[in-house]
Amino acid sequence: MKRLLTSSRSCRLVRVAICEAMLLAHLLSAIPVPDVEDVSRIIPDTVADAKSPQNESSMSRRQPYRTGFHFQPKRNWMNDPNGPFFYKGWYHLFYQYNPEGAIWGNIIWGHAVSHDLVHWRYLEPALKTDHWYDIRGVWSGSATFLEDNTPVLVYTGWSNGTEQMQNLAFPEDPGDPLLRKWVKHPGNPILVTPDGYMSSQFRDPSTAWKGEDGLWRMIVGAFMNASFGSQGGVALLFKSSNFVAWNRTPTPLYWVQTTGMWECPDFFPVHVALMQGLETSAHGDQVKHVLKVSMDSWKHDYYSVGTYNRTTDTYKPEISSAMEPGIGLRYDYGKFYASKTFFDPARNRRILWGWVNESSSIADDVAKGWSSVMALPRGIWLDPGASNVLIQWPIDEILTLRQDEVTLRDVRLAPGSTLELSDVRGVQLDIEVLFAMPELDKRNDLSDEDDVDLVYDLGSVRCKELASGVVSRSQSKEFGPFGLYVLASEDTEERTAVFFHLVHFRNFGWQGLICSDQSNSTLAEDADKTTYGSYVHVAEGDQALSLRVLVDHSIVESFAQGGRTVVTSRVYPQFLAHNRASAAARMFLFNDAAAEVVVKSITVWHMDDIKRRNL
Ligand SMILES: *[C@@H]1O[C@H](CO)[C@@H](O)[C@H](O)[C@H]1NC(C)=O
Ligand SMILES: *[C@@H]1O[C@H](CO)[C@@H](O)[C@H](O)[C@H]1NC(C)=O
Ligand SMILES: *[C@@H]1O[C@H](CO)[C@@H](O)[C@H](O)[C@H]1NC(C)=O
Ligand SMILES: *[C@@H]1O[C@H](CO)[C@@H](O)[C@H](O)[C@H]1NC(C)=O
Ligand SMILES: *[C@@H]1O[C@H](CO)[C@@H](O)[C@H](O)[C@H]1NC(C)=O
Ligand SMILES: *[C@@H]1O[C@H](CO)[C@@H](O)[C@H](O)[C@H]1NC(C)=O
Repeated sequence: MKRLLTSSRSCRLVRVAICEAMLLAHLLSAIPVPDVEDVSRIIPDTVADAKSPQNESSMSRRQPYRTGFHFQPKRNWMNDPNGPFFYKGWYHLFYQYNPEGAIWGNIIWGHAVSHDLVHWRYLEPALKTDHWYDIRGVWSGSATFLEDNTPVLVYTGWSNGTEQMQNLAFPEDPGDPLLRKWVKHPGNPILVTPDGYMSSQFRDPSTAWKGEDGLWRMIVGAFMNASFGSQGGVALLFKSSNFVAWNRTPTPLYWVQTTGMWECPDFFPVHVALMQGLETSAHGDQVKHVLKVSMDSWKHDYYSVGTYNRTTDTYKPEISSAMEPGIGLRYDYGKFYASKTFFDPARNRRILWGWVNESSSIADDVAKGWSSVMALPRGIWLDPGASNVLIQWPIDEILTLRQDEVTLRDVRLAPGSTLELSDVRGVQLDIEVLFAMPELDKRNDLSDEDDVDLVYDLGSVRCKELASGVVSRSQSKEFGPFGLYVLASEDTEERTAVFFHLVHFRNFGWQGLICSDQSNSTLAEDADKTTYGSYVHVAEGDQALSLRVLVDHSIVESFAQGGRTVVTSRVYPQFLAHNRASAAARMFLFNDAAAEVVVKSITVWHMDDIKRRNL
């Protein structure tokens, strides 16, 4: 990535189409060809062996970075969300879990249940490593409801011979709403690596759906190596009449040349006009399909919206080749990986779960006794204001945690100013801000580009330049940056900046950037301090720029323009370790633009702690 950052300096925002396309080509050519062994999942033995003690105080709220209203296990390592569903009044969440320490290893399925997706009850792990086909690890998978309305789990086992194979598990007692016991199918494994593919790159079965012929379909992530003529990530498609015997279709559901191994593929229908979610087998005139893939090489989740042909069983994205899954749009331009959606029949919506890993060092993770949180569950639907883009928005249930509302209106921020909101301090906040659209001298519009084809992944490069002041305020064709500092120390030496930056095109209208900057978030030297961000579409009719930021100790989730672009960061301000009073964490508005910024309104709520009222 280093070379990418350097060469991008010569990319001006406007001429991005060509310049960034060249960079992208460079980036793609640089994709490491995955090795036989999947190194991303392997943690050095020296660390893995140092089993961290079950530190009871990792539950303790006195830890400065442990979250107050996000899902995380009581202790230890967590990664991918697995097989979420709703059953007999309970939301179930399974997750990749290491019962023996705060780093990856010994992976099994943790299990928790909730009535409201906010307060959780931890259960015994659902699936453990107890058969030859999963003895090294019970890896990711999904849930599907069969005709009799019982959920079945399909997951990847890492076998005695270090091969990845797909397996089934059924509830021992479907009458138990908590589904505490699961029984592995005697016919496991139900799928082993197909000929020509590598057994180290065949994993993460999806939720299954039914096709025209009444047969079940599911996809599994894989990688086609050079022996196929050209290489790329692929969603292999399998069909079954009884959910036990599966046959691979001659043509995969989809694949994209030059992308690496596809992990955790997710394939689901969305309504073209309504926010309501659709059951995974839904189809029809008003339905499009989303294919999401988790790119193993870059650790980001990419999606595209397109059409699924039920006759040919193939998927076709409705986008340019620069926006293919694995290349184009992402759910989140910060930390967010291995996500999975499920249809919630209780409220007719589709919900997205995603894993957010730490930005701290392994030593710090071991010391605090835990690693990773889940992002807040997000509703997900098609954006009515932009074609083939998804909206993500935190589920309404978290509104019940809001307390002590403070609202300010019509706040004017002079160029170069910062303003502390002294009434709102804290480490658990929900913030909603509306900025007025700036008035620009139209003579400064950038007009030489009719079709702006932005490479979303490279927005972070611009964000980094803005955060470090490389772009000067006098640059009249652009407007920004302006936004918020959260989790800030009194002198703002430590602060996490979440900000907008805008450009106006005569023929295209506004184009925004939304950035979340970890670079000044902590004085700690060993934390990852990447500046995250990307472009956000600002429609001609948008009356304001909206930003919602959820702050929870060490996680900052930012939703721009009603959830069109989302950026998640992890931050570890040192002042929080020294002064654990929630009021030590301050909040500021700032304006580094060359002209005044008007904050139409800003509302801040304190968020209650879910651990105080666990189930
Ligand atoms: C794994 O276990 C199976 C079932 O016991 C056995 O047939 C197979 O030989 C074992 N493979 C290895 C590599 O040990
Ligand atoms: C591709 O994978 C297959 C299956 O593991 C292997 O036999 C073959 O050598 C690989 N080919 C290349 C070019 O890597
Ligand atoms: C699906 O593919 C078939 C065969 O190519 C084609 O005849 C049909 O029109 C396609 N259906 C849709 C809805 O595009
Ligand atoms: C986790 O975070 C680190 C550092 O912030 C990052 O480099 C890595 O790719 C992340 N891994 C995943 C799986 O998200
Ligand atoms: C447990 O965690 C606390 C808080 O992070 C730490 O101070 C303590 O040293 C830890 N104890 C052990 C045995 O790791
Ligand atoms: C971080 O803060 C320092 C000191 O205020 C400032 O010079 C720097 O530009 C900030 N941003 C980055 C990305 O370093």
